[in-house]
Amino acid sequence: MTTSFMINGKPVSVDAPTDTPLLWVIRESLKLTGTKFGCGAGLCGACMVHINGKRAYSCQTQLSELAGKTVTTIEGLSADSSHPVQKAWLAESVPQCGYCQSGQIMSAADLLNQKPKPTRSEIVEHMSSNLCRCGTYQRIIRAVERASREA
Ligand code: FES
Ligand code: FES
Repeated sequence: MTTSFMINGKPVSVDAPTDTPLLWVIRESLKLTGTKFGCGAGLCGACMVHINGKRAYSCQTQLSELAGKTVTTIEGLSADSSHPVQKAWLAESVPQCGYCQSGQIMSAADLLNQKPKPTRSEIVEHMSSNLCRCGTYQRIIRAVERASREA
């Protein structure tokens, strides 16, 4: 069955079973490999994308839920890595191995969309959806604070 939706500003039609997780569609069908597989169970946040402007675990979203919707992945967050969160991430040298980082950035961008000036505890709470096995949490908080200041 074919499902049509928008991804990073472009229309796509994907021919796959409707219970296929969006994460598989993004990585295998559309070859957008910035979005990562971590747990496949909605526990780590490595697969985070935006659907209709709000964050969502792509491993927990089936193709059947996407018809007519708008998906943004890390590749579509900005045309040239100029999103305030991306700039703050570079300024604070957040990544270590990098594996979790696209999910972290998508969650952070979602927070600042909803709440441009979050408190530190709101940042910690919101970002608790995303795990980092390298322990970059303090730099993540600093980068979100910087993006909030400089946006
Ligand atoms: S891969 Fe989706 S939450 Fe871990
Ligand atoms: S930077 Fe390595 S898992 Fe987060």
